[in-house]
Amino acid sequence: MQLKIAVLPGDGIGPEIMKQALNITSAVCEKFGHTLTYKEAIVGACAIDATGDPYPAETHELCMQSDAVLFGAIGDPKYDNDPNAKVRPEQGLLRMRKQLGLYGNIRPVMTFPSLVHKSPLRADLVDGADFVCIRELTGGMYFGRPQGRSEDGNTAYDTCVYTREEIERVLHLAYKFAGQRRKKLTVVDKANVIATSRLWRQIAQEIAPQYPDIETDFLFVDNAAMRIIQWPKSFDVMVTENLFGDILTDEASVITGSLGLLPSASVGLHTSLFEPIHGSYPQATGKNIANPLAMILSAALMFEYGFNLMEEGALIRKAVNASLETGVVTEDIADGGKAYSTSDVGEWIERFVRG
Ligand code: IPM
Ligand code: MN
Repeated sequence: MQLKIAVLPGDGIGPEIMKQALNITSAVCEKFGHTLTYKEAIVGACAIDATGDPYPAETHELCMQSDAVLFGAIGDPKYDNDPNAKVRPEQGLLRMRKQLGLYGNIRPVMTFPSLVHKSPLRADLVDGADFVCIRELTGGMYFGRPQGRSEDGNTAYDTCVYTREEIERVLHLAYKFAGQRRKKLTVVDKANVIATSRLWRQIAQEIAPQYPDIETDFLFVDNAAMRIIQWPKSFDVMVTENLFGDILTDEASVITGSLGLLPSASVGLHTSLFEPIHGSYPQATGKNIANPLAMILSAALMFEYGFNLMEEGALIRKAVNASLETGVVTEDIADGGKAYSTSDVGEWIERFVRG
């Protein structure tokens, strides 16, 4: 098969972890006889530095022409403490999502048996936890207008907007996932207070009968936040709006023991995009210490969801599990044992794949 991908390393540790993920992607392609062609482009702070625009038109064109996009991370601390910065790296990410029509963000939350002891939660609560959060990615308060300040600067406002079409398409995506898993869908909203949430709940109730083999239940977002910690194993597939999904997936990621482990996939109208859920980790930039596993697992998701190449994705997962079990890990999960570098871990996994 021909795999034509766009590579967007982004900022901070993005380029270091991307290098490892790309080597492993090439190794998998060689092993299974696929042809990999890729081109790199800039996004985020590095794109602002080079062009003034965090998501330049050439980058968008390249993504549109590719079958999948591998993306590292975005963000630079020089923008974080400047509330008046006119252009911010994060705007690049939001425009990329919107312009590529990436409305469904799939964030699997799974535990790794060899890391259960790293979780801040009790081992018996997290061992075997395995759910998927589907976050709507191009609507809600992130994009609703008007957004801004009153003239005197003392009042600020955001708008949360959802249309029937936006809600329906992401609910169907979530039902499809639930159908391939344990057949349980939890719709998370705040329908007791918020109008958009009431529309979400109404549409979910209308759609549910089309999926008779799937059990649908509803949770208010505050209650869901509690249940993720108290009983993570009660979830199979969860679907929610943009802002709730942003918050709940950071919460859910700690279940696994390190934010450096979780990949995500975004799917939609034109192409699909694969990225770690962590950020650009500026403190580690250039030090060759960041955990490359979330990026490497994002490449696994690219094979699986982007190209429907399940065996290829499974081989990467197997190699990642083997590295964890062998203790070839970066400092965030080394637990007092030997800490390996980003490239050590990547090269170990690459050798396993070629092996
Ligand atoms: C994420 C990030 C982004 C978001 C930021 C960087 C804009 O937190 O992908 O979860 O809020 O969506
Ligand atoms: Mn987030």
